[in-house]
Amino acid sequence: MVAEHAELIVIDHPLVQHKLTLMRQIETDTQDFRRLLKEISLLLAYEVTRDLPLKYEVIQTPVAETKAPMLVDKNMVIVSIMRAGQGLLDGMMELLPTAKVGHIGLYREPKTLMTVEYYFKLPVDIEQRDMIVVDPMLATGNSAVAAVDRLKETNPASIKFVCLLAAPEGIQHFHEQHPDVPIYTASVDDRLDEHGYIIPGLGDAGDRLFGTK
Ligand code: URA
Repeated sequence: MVAEHAELIVIDHPLVQHKLTLMRQIETDTQDFRRLLKEISLLLAYEVTRDLPLKYEVIQTPVAETKAPMLVDKNMVIVSIMRAGQGLLDGMMELLPTAKVGHIGLYREPKTLMTVEYYFKLPVDIEQRDMIVVDPMLATGNSAVAAVDRLKETNPASIKFVCLLAAPEGIQHFHEQHPDVPIYTASVDDRLDEHGYIIPGLGDAGDRLFGTK
């Protein structure tokens, strides 16, 4: 059962949707795929930070004194699930230049199907930071669930999960395990195929991003 308050935010901005369609196309090469993912990640970062708190400070413009909004110092940390998460990281870091960055690497052991952690590096003072976890593809949800399980052990103040595409199966699995973590995505696609690929999807995000196939 997915808790009622589990949140799914679909970012249906026309710019995001147009760029995502270009990314899906088989003829889009690595260079364009990488550029488009970075551009979309800037727009996703904009949406995912929409609720950042503001404080009002007295400032002086060239013509008057006024009270104007500024971000409350938020200790954000962005965590990339390797390797495809790197593609969302650039835009996020550009929009949040003071954010710290962590990495988590997981793979699935083919025999046992258990998720194995091969890399884990976070900023030291993680407690009380707001965390944004990024991975372009929420397919089965297994690695996202395992990553968030692990990250919760570090006691962040909050966690948001950001992806480009999500399969209904992955959303359901993720929210069963982590109903307190909102999912931000540019699209909810139709389904998974028998190999765990998102349909219609865009293929293997890591391979398309790094040109490894
Ligand atoms: N990971 C990918 O890169 N693509 C999919 O379709 C599913 C998981």
